Amino acid sequence: MVDIAIIGGSGFDQMGGLEFSHSESIITPYGEPSAPLNYGTINGREIVFLPRHGPAHSIAPHRINYRANIHALKHIGVKKIIAVAAVGGITPQMHPGALVIPDQIVDYTWARKHTFFEDESDPVVHIDFTWPYCELLRRQLIDTAVRINQPLISQATYAATQGPRLESGAEIIRLERDGCDLVGMTGMPEAALARELELCYASCCVVANWAAGKGEGEISMEQIEAVLSGAMEKLRPLLAALLQ
Ligand code: HPA
Repeated sequence: MVDIAIIGGSGFDQMGGLEFSHSESIITPYGEPSAPLNYGTINGREIVFLPRHGPAHSIAPHRINYRANIHALKHIGVKKIIAVAAVGGITPQMHPGALVIPDQIVDYTWARKHTFFEDESDPVVHIDFTWPYCELLRRQLIDTAVRINQPLISQATYAATQGPRLESGAEIIRLERDGCDLVGMTGMPEAALARELELCYASCCVVANWAAGKGEGEISMEQIEAVLSGAMEKLRPLLAALLQ
């Protein structure tokens, strides 16, 4: 049984290094996941890969069916999820190109299907979210980075914004005041849904750009894509070493 999944984000819609075996289309009680699940091996270890934005990067952050994605992974027996995500850097250490394993979240998203316990007929469930990420998996990522000499920032607070637009300069100042280091659009409700289904979930963020007002001039998609393609190349060896 495949017990580890990688959810790919922007710039990581394909899992390079995956020896592909087969894909499986699943329909969950919450609808269809972003893509068929791709099974294969990395360094001999079986994994399943799911591109969050769809195989052709066509699903915007607010339209992703987070519940179907997490439910599908739970359904096939996954226990651990490594969620790759592109983010903007707010605080000075979070420079473009950096790899970051966040340990906290502030959720600014709205109107997303954010719980499996929504209906009147569902039990009232309040998950503990004091530490929103699985510390065991965070440690494994951090220790692997040390082992392969890959610089990585091991603590940060992730701000989840609604998107799809980028933030205003004033919004980023507010997020910084709130204690946030990074900003992205997909970290929530994904992390909370994983916790609701008792999955071990950690995120590996790649800083694509300085957040609004923190760098020079406007943020361009070309800039973001250029940084991401370089930075994702650091991520592949990290994931391969972790899976060994
Ligand atoms: N803001 C929100 N999400 C992002 C950013 C950003 O600056 N960069 C990459 N994802």
